[in-house]
Amino acid sequence: MANNNRRTVTVRIQRFNPDADAKPHMQEYQVELVQGMTVLDALHEIKTHQDGGVTFRRSCRHAICGSCAMNINGRNTLACKTPLKNEIDKHGRVTIRPLPYLPIIKDLVVDRTTFWEEYLRVKPWLIPPDDIPEKEFRMSPEEVHALNNAETCIMCGACYSSCAVIGLNKKYIGPHALLKAFMRVLDPRDAAPAERLAEVSGADGVYRCHTIFNCIDACPKGLNPTQAIETLRKLAQKRQKYEQARRERQKHLNEPIP
Ligand code: SF4
Ligand code: FES
Repeated sequence: MANNNRRTVTVRIQRFNPDADAKPHMQEYQVELVQGMTVLDALHEIKTHQDGGVTFRRSCRHAICGSCAMNINGRNTLACKTPLKNEIDKHGRVTIRPLPYLPIIKDLVVDRTTFWEEYLRVKPWLIPPDDIPEKEFRMSPEEVHALNNAETCIMCGACYSSCAVIGLNKKYIGPHALLKAFMRVLDPRDAAPAERLAEVSGADGVYRCHTIFNCIDACPKGLNPTQAIETLRKLAQKRQKYEQARRERQKHLNEPIP
């Protein structure tokens, strides 16, 4: 429906209440499209004026906290960063589902336990060396540039839950955590690159990536987890070669002198 100033649009939301529903179902709402409205604004409008039971996560409304990641018209993204009008213009209506591959707690809220567990696996915090300077611990502009903006990741999970490998294997470390590992391995202030490379080059790490690029398409911050994984893979291979060479040398050192 449209007149000069007013237009009502259809928003479809996947609903699931574990206490009442056997499986998820879609529910339709009509929302008045207001200039500048985001998909998150539409969800707020529905929750405040039409159905207080609609459940979703959000906090900052400025694409900073990462909590409003969901699947909008088939694409994982942030609801607070998605203009409602763009989705309507492209698809005629908006269909909102929770992030895929994760257990649904209620409606659009998913259980992110595996996401955080894998994140912790790479020890995402900085591990400083013993001789840490007393004042600033500076990185050069070139060193910062090499991180390719990885430090701007907001841990929204859009990449993780768009990854086909995650869909098949929840033990895969995942693009979000591998991006963080990449950032720490390249950080000259970090003292544990070997430990990190050993973790990411194991059975659930970088070699599981099939370079499908879904993570790049999904990332609302324009980051490139695939490139980070590729860099880690090369560094891990180099390290494995060095270790292999060292073991060989050691073997010969231990041989009895003829
Ligand atoms: S890499 Fe992008 S999509 Fe993945 S968690 Fe970080 S901000 Fe979200
Ligand atoms: S509400 Fe914080 S990123 Fe959307």
